[in-house]
Amino acid sequence: MEAPTWKNPVIGWIDRRLPIFTMMQHDLVDYPTPKNLNYWWNFGSLAGIILVIMIATGVVLAMHYTPHVDYAFESVERIMRDVNYGWLLRYLHMNGASMFFIVVYIHMFRGLYYGSYKAPREVLWILGVFILLAMMATAFMGYVLPWGQMSFWGATVITNLFSAIPLVGEYIVTWLWGGFSVDNATLNRFFSLHYLMPFVIFALVFLHLVALHTSKSNNPLGIDVKGPQDTIPFTPYYTIKDMFGLGVFMIVYLGFVFFSPNFYGEPDNYIKANPMVTPAHIVPEWYFLPYYAILRAITFDIWFVPAKLLGVTAMFGSIIVLLFLPWLDRSPVRSARFRPIYKQFFWVFLANCFVLGYVGSKPAEGVWIPIGQAATAYYFAHFLIILPLLSFLERPKPLPASISAAVTPAGVGIPARSAAE
Ligand code: HEM
Repeated sequence: MEAPTWKNPVIGWIDRRLPIFTMMQHDLVDYPTPKNLNYWWNFGSLAGIILVIMIATGVVLAMHYTPHVDYAFESVERIMRDVNYGWLLRYLHMNGASMFFIVVYIHMFRGLYYGSYKAPREVLWILGVFILLAMMATAFMGYVLPWGQMSFWGATVITNLFSAIPLVGEYIVTWLWGGFSVDNATLNRFFSLHYLMPFVIFALVFLHLVALHTSKSNNPLGIDVKGPQDTIPFTPYYTIKDMFGLGVFMIVYLGFVFFSPNFYGEPDNYIKANPMVTPAHIVPEWYFLPYYAILRAITFDIWFVPAKLLGVTAMFGSIIVLLFLPWLDRSPVRSARFRPIYKQFFWVFLANCFVLGYVGSKPAEGVWIPIGQAATAYYFAHFLIILPLLSFLERPKPLPASISAAVTPAGVGIPARSAAE
């Protein structure tokens, strides 16, 4: 890469020894970005900003939190009442977790709609799936820390799932707990790992961005950039667009923090953990509900495989299948705009994910069992049957010659606005 010359001699001196300014110039300023990106492309940078907010608030919360079963609940109450702006830090962190998942789920569905997982972006997508898994582990362990009823019972139910693994299951559960039940050792290691994992996520996000800048951004048309006429520099065009998106996001996020901070919360978690009293309904946080529905969908043994093991396999399988997506969908056309049938299945799939989430919030009884089973079957059918079949059966619409050709009025060589200027 060609090194820019720096007016400021100090920057130039540093840059010749450690070219961080050159790298920033290339990746954040000059970076040629498709000129037709819409607002769905705001969510990656938003996710990055939330990650930073979560780490910043989390590090300060950790200064006042005590990871011990006798003190954890009270230490959180002290943060809420006595620590200066402790309530704000905690509510930013709690609601930040929900916002993080909303933003990342939108980011993923954008990828599904515009086929951003297809060649040459397979590794970018796979890194995304690893980020999602790491986020889930982090959120799960974080939820245990306030040591409320739902913290304790959620941790008990989920860690117990590993006991379904044949032969070694029980050993794994004891090993995870660091004892014979969810107790002080468990809380302590969850705290340690909850602090560590965001930095692992940070490293994965860095790789995600290296992969992005290697394969370059996809765009709403899903066609390749044909030349400089199809791109604009990242700064100022997309920095300013991302700032606008951040402003809108902050209104929503702070709206929850200041006006409805317990909207996503569970009242039972304001009761201190009690191993002798099981809550009536043990429900995970909303962002885990679809997986929870898949976990509970399998109520019958198949041959010698017990239902519990099948449920656990299906739950993990629902994420693992995403890793294979670039090879399950073989259609050469990326964007759903040019895939009339895929587009419809995309919306059905999205609706099905909401159904799974709703079923996950209901007790596993009555009509919710068959609905959960049908929605689980459809989830897997989408990836394993519908997408592979569509790859061959669907006839895509003709693609535009280039991004410029698609966004420039017919017969005009340059965009109308520039012509007038
Ligand atoms: C901490 C979480 C994440 C962060 C900070 C992050 C960050 C980003 C950023 C900044 C971009 C470029 C801007 C954009 O296209 O929106 C991007 C693109 C992308 N991300 Fe993520 N990401 C995260 C999670 C994920 C996940 C969970 C997936 C999928 C499973 C994923 C898949 C992708 C793909 C496929 C692209 C390329 C999109 C395109 O060019 O069309 N990301 N990511």
